[in-house]
Amino acid sequence: MPKESLTVTDNRTGKSYELAVSEGCIKAADLRQIKVADDDFGLMAYDPAYLNTASCRSAITFIDGDRGILRYRGYPIEQLAEKASFLEVAYLLFEGELPTRAQLDKWEEDVRYHTYVHTNIIKFLEGYRYDAHPMGVLLGATAALSTFYPEAKNIEDPTSRYLQRVRLMAKIPTIAAFAFRHSRGLPFVFPRNDLSYIGNYVNMTFEIGGQHEPNPVLQRALEILLILHADHEQNCSTSAVRAVGSSHVDPFSAVSAGIAALYGPLHGGANEAVLSMLDDIGEKRNIPAFIAEVKAGHGRLMGFGHRVYKSYDPRAKLIKQVAYDVFEQTGLNPKLEIALELEKIALEDDYFIKRKLYPNVDFYSGLIYQAMGYPTDYFTVLFAIGRLPGWVAQWEEMLRDKEQKIARPRQIYTGYDSREFVPMAMRG
Ligand code: CMC
Repeated sequence: MPKESLTVTDNRTGKSYELAVSEGCIKAADLRQIKVADDDFGLMAYDPAYLNTASCRSAITFIDGDRGILRYRGYPIEQLAEKASFLEVAYLLFEGELPTRAQLDKWEEDVRYHTYVHTNIIKFLEGYRYDAHPMGVLLGATAALSTFYPEAKNIEDPTSRYLQRVRLMAKIPTIAAFAFRHSRGLPFVFPRNDLSYIGNYVNMTFEIGGQHEPNPVLQRALEILLILHADHEQNCSTSAVRAVGSSHVDPFSAVSAGIAALYGPLHGGANEAVLSMLDDIGEKRNIPAFIAEVKAGHGRLMGFGHRVYKSYDPRAKLIKQVAYDVFEQTGLNPKLEIALELEKIALEDDYFIKRKLYPNVDFYSGLIYQAMGYPTDYFTVLFAIGRLPGWVAQWEEMLRDKEQKIARPRQIYTGYDSREFVPMAMRG
């Protein structure tokens, strides 16, 4: 029986060490015993951007990036996208099991009960300029929720945690819809508790003068998109929520850190960047020149590539199917042709093949959002609504994990050694 350990020899001292291997990992802290002298700090692992460091143990989401597999709590994403509702998936992420009918009814009822926001939040939202980026609005308003619910800081109390979870799930879509209305100068439409979670959100977003006709195909398409975004293990925004939450701040503040991380163009902002890219390309005949620029290192093919997936992102496959359902209702998005051609060329090109760059979740989602009537700068807000249950489930898992402490990475100091202060008159 082979030993579950790693033997390393420190060639600086000639000493050997045996490090335990568990679940395919060594504990980085075990390296600290490897020293050249008694007062030596001990060996550290250097891993910028955590390329090869597991920061936690998690039972929520499984990804096999080489085989294009994504599962929430063991359930394949394809089955959840086909059969579940978004709130059902959120329950699964939080509780670890699919809800019974009674459990789902209660969960839906709890969320429905909390969809209103305090009217002061409305004043707060009105303070933003009309052209404020909706992600900035969502970010600020989510952080502001912590001031409305100061008891949210009782993070050790499971009852309080449940209430904040419900509030976040219920109020973020309301704030997101209000951010949409604010950007268009439209009056806010208040939650309607006779509607479904998705139906209510869409109504708050698009209703004008009683004219909004709910379209079940588009609503289900949006729901599938939210399900596909609901969690993605230790991505940038989830890691931000965990890191900020590890200081034991309230969940509204921790989630606002996740929204900030998601805002960036390399993360959730990529769906917006894909549309700008398609706009810039303009016509199919410009694609070869664009690809040549990317290969020359001038810009990236947005919506392509992923830190974990080194094959076709399973979410992108599902989204491509959803796109056709949506376009049947809305008419074809003219940019689809350019996107399909880009994909075709990139999948045949050595540059992309060698680097295992495939379409990711953001490649087609923007085209769908646009066809549904959302403006480009709003796309990442929809990603945030989808990712919310993942952030909150991961935050709670982190809090319950006895091995977790406040996140505090080490560094390799590369600056000056100690030097004397230079008076102003002697500088320069
Ligand atoms: N277009 C062109 N080249 C790329 C791309 C791209 N989209 N992505 C990676 N590369 C190249 C990169 O230049 C590098 O080449 P070389 O080895 O010659 O220097 C190689 O591929 C490896 O890239 P990397 O930057 O080391 O890879 P990473 O794992 O750090 O980055 C990524 C992952 C998603 C940030 C990156 O692929 C990217 O910038 N993609 C475009 C933005 C995007 O679509 N983001 C959405 C990600 S999925 C949704 C989400 O999780 O938010």
